[in-house]
Amino acid sequence: MSEVNADRHVVAQADEITDGERLLTQIKGREITIFQYDGEYYAYLNWCAHQGGPCGEGNLTGTSVASYDRETGETNVSWEHEGEILNCPWHGWEYDLTTGDCLSNENVTLPSYPVEIEDGQIVISM
Ligand code: FES
Repeated sequence: MSEVNADRHVVAQADEITDGERLLTQIKGREITIFQYDGEYYAYLNWCAHQGGPCGEGNLTGTSVASYDRETGETNVSWEHEGEILNCPWHGWEYDLTTGDCLSNENVTLPSYPVEIEDGQIVISM
């Protein structure tokens, strides 16, 4: 996403969003969800690439990761990335909160916006 000619929008005080929490706001008529996770801030369009659901309102969870050993034929399933996976509330598509990447479709990424913290304020460029 290009920042050329992007307007800067102060949306909240940074300390209004605690770790693992979010803030839903509107900028230029678009619903944007801002997350704080592990000291970093992320801003995504509140829209899911599957059928347009309110992805930014979904639960933050982990995800199942499976591996298969061809030598032994053993399958291992583990729960990983707790708190880093955004689940769309409509049909459960999973997105990596830190990148916006969809876990089930490598060609899909949530639309995102640059976030900066300036003088304790969250600034979104759009
Ligand atoms: S609209 Fe998000 S999973 Fe279907």
